Amino acid sequence: MVRGRKIEIVSCLLLQIVVAATAANVTYDHRALVIDGKRKILISGSIHYPRSTPEMWPDLIQKSKDGGLDVIETYVFWNGHEPHKNKYNFEGRYDLVKFVKLVAKAGLYVHLRIGPYACAEWNYGGFPVWLHFIPGIKFRTDNEPFKAEMQRFTAKIVDLMKQEKLYASQGGPIILSQIENEYGNVDSSYGSAGKSYMKWSASMALSLDTGVPWNMCQQGDAPDPIINTCNGFYCDQFTPNSNNKPKMWTENWSGWFLGFGDPTPYRPVEDLAFAVAIFYQRSGTFQNYYMYHGGTNFERTSGGPLISTSYDYDAPIDEYGLVRQPKWGHLRDLHKAIKLCEDALLATDPTVTSLGSNLVASVYKTSSGSCAAFLANIGTESDATVTFNGNSYHLPAWSISILPDCKNVAFNTAKINAATESTTFSSQSLKPNADSSEELGSQWSYIKEPIGISKADAFVKPGLLEQINTTADESDYLWYSLRMDIKGDETFLDEGSKAVLHVQSIGQVVYAFINGKLAGSGNGKQKISLDIPINLVTGKNTIDLLSVTVGLANYGAFFDLFGAGITGPVTLKSAKSGSSIDLSSQQWTYQVGLKGEDTNLGSGDSSEWVSKSPLPTMQPLVWYKTTFDAPSGSDPVAIDFTGTGKGIAWVNGQSIGRYWPTSIARNNGCTDSCNYRGSYSSNKCLKNCGKPSQTLYHVPRSWIKPSGNTLVLLEEMGGDPTKISFATKQTGSSLCLTVSQSHPAPVDSWASDSKILNRTSPVLSLKCPVSTHVITSINFASFGTPTGTCGSFSHGRCNSPRSLSIVRKACVGSRSCKVEVSTRVFGDPCRSLAKSLAVEASCS
Ligand code: GAL
Repeated sequence: MVRGRKIEIVSCLLLQIVVAATAANVTYDHRALVIDGKRKILISGSIHYPRSTPEMWPDLIQKSKDGGLDVIETYVFWNGHEPHKNKYNFEGRYDLVKFVKLVAKAGLYVHLRIGPYACAEWNYGGFPVWLHFIPGIKFRTDNEPFKAEMQRFTAKIVDLMKQEKLYASQGGPIILSQIENEYGNVDSSYGSAGKSYMKWSASMALSLDTGVPWNMCQQGDAPDPIINTCNGFYCDQFTPNSNNKPKMWTENWSGWFLGFGDPTPYRPVEDLAFAVAIFYQRSGTFQNYYMYHGGTNFERTSGGPLISTSYDYDAPIDEYGLVRQPKWGHLRDLHKAIKLCEDALLATDPTVTSLGSNLVASVYKTSSGSCAAFLANIGTESDATVTFNGNSYHLPAWSISILPDCKNVAFNTAKINAATESTTFSSQSLKPNADSSEELGSQWSYIKEPIGISKADAFVKPGLLEQINTTADESDYLWYSLRMDIKGDETFLDEGSKAVLHVQSIGQVVYAFINGKLAGSGNGKQKISLDIPINLVTGKNTIDLLSVTVGLANYGAFFDLFGAGITGPVTLKSAKSGSSIDLSSQQWTYQVGLKGEDTNLGSGDSSEWVSKSPLPTMQPLVWYKTTFDAPSGSDPVAIDFTGTGKGIAWVNGQSIGRYWPTSIARNNGCTDSCNYRGSYSSNKCLKNCGKPSQTLYHVPRSWIKPSGNTLVLLEEMGGDPTKISFATKQTGSSLCLTVSQSHPAPVDSWASDSKILNRTSPVLSLKCPVSTHVITSINFASFGTPTGTCGSFSHGRCNSPRSLSIVRKACVGSRSCKVEVSTRVFGDPCRSLAKSLAVEASCS
């Protein structure tokens, strides 16, 4: 204990020393942000602090720094910080000050997007739901109650940052703050009140006097001195609204988010690198990857409707905190190449010349003689060979070459020098706690959640209530319950015929129980329409409808008013006679949330757990509990929920989020090898069609003890928890890379102090990502015309017979190796052909 405290004090002091650094003056001009009088090329990446744990933050930040980032961007999540009005939370994953100080400690800057509207696929766009209940409030428009709350929270965050001296003007890392978020995308829906709200937001922000610039994204009319910035898959065509403002890109979507029921989006790194390079080619000086690490929507933080628990985003650092290769490595090389051009880029505006159709050269040449050039082929079909300054350059379609000295190519966006590293999930069964006192054969215990009304605070109202107004989002669950007396002569009871229950809802899931038994269910984004054949009995019948939200809407004009739940009509129709009765305006009994939520079963603590066998499975609304030992090793951990239906899970009382492995992605629109050439869009490159959208759910290591852990599930749909297993994620057991003779030499071979190229040949370099690993075998090597990709390489017509032995000799037994890709090394197996070297290696 004492020791831990000491370490804490020392690290606190260290953090203070870092932030006590000298104040920096941050301004801007038409070319760039200017820090202490110097223009800067800045490369930024988004990491949203509550989407990982404080234990993960240092590593994520270090990997960002190693990847070449200068800035970490994050939103501030109002509903996380003020879950109840005036009751603040800045602890744990919401310890914003700690996060900002850790970024500072790593020597990086911070872009703080206070909003306080975030969007971000985050519940209710980041707004606390209590805000909705303030009398007379209208969100994101010229409305006094809203503006008062927005100003109070924004000022609260600015004050907190100031107290901790976190603005650059005070010696801290924050160089830029954002107010609002993409309001320009929706402001026309708010009419003239939208305009005045936008102007008010701008002057309110400025009045807070942070000492550093503010930006508004996607706000073409952002008033001076606020910088309007661009969001999108490409922003090279963007121009700021004044000649005095720099061209800045606040969201370059590195992939896209996943929804339950959707296939998994991915964005090829060749295209992402192309987007970045053309942005800097066309005078951009700040760009931010949204996301650089996406992370996880723990608890009930995911937005909606139907945003998945994983927020991996195909980002350069994956959900689990492992670098995603070759994405991370290729972008790191790109950042190095751009930084080699920094002096020239910042000194002047470019001279742009055409080198042919779809071929453009932009040259940054200073009076003092430094020169950097970007050569672009924006055609989507054909590779080109261009002549520039008397030299000839190969430019693949949809690619850009960066020439930091206007002569030698340091980087081409379509030629990847970073190896692909395999990642694998290895399965480990749920190891029951060794000293578990539970009965043998039943490691699971359970509590059945009552069907229908069971809590004392249930209430009766005529008609069907909107769900968010009723639950205030304190729970995903709302029961709509009706008792009906059916007389013996009613048509619904005709011999052999069934009644049909019709239910209409605006989302996102409905379960219909008749007399305590599940009769049917459905789910949807905006509209659910159910027709369920049911059996009624003479006398008393209960219709219990459980409506479930899966994340509140986060985007669009008036998204706060979209609503959820059963809207009606709810009708009963006789299958035989066709006559129907409308139940919508009856006296419904309502229950907000489940009994087990009130008694906090998620914590695992209760005397009511039943451990008698048999364990009830495939039944709706059962709470399950087990204890387990930590999966061995230190690799990141996931729970594989295959075998269960849908619900929420807790590990040692921490909610790991909603699970829903039975939500299946549609069966079409996927492609394994997406063509990176041409404009990307969020549905261009999809995988995992026809499969569950998400089976694996991240459990941060720091939430697990070596033994005696508790796992609790609320299974709402029906499933078998004994099928659950653990998976740990490993990286880098195999490495693959293809380097052609026309690849640029590794960017690392450019000396950073002088721009002298010390290597001219391309080099294939491999490194086992795990520091204790070495390359144990070369499974494939061919210099010639190899084809295929990782796992499926094969020799082409042309192959140097010495390939395998040369690569083996250079690599096996070492953690890393480099092989020059040239005929000097391999001989020339086919004189007239362009050749490349493809290698697949194993590390262990
Ligand atoms: C943007 C928004 C972000 C995020 C992104 C999609 O429009 O500003 O917060 O929602 O879309 O991931």
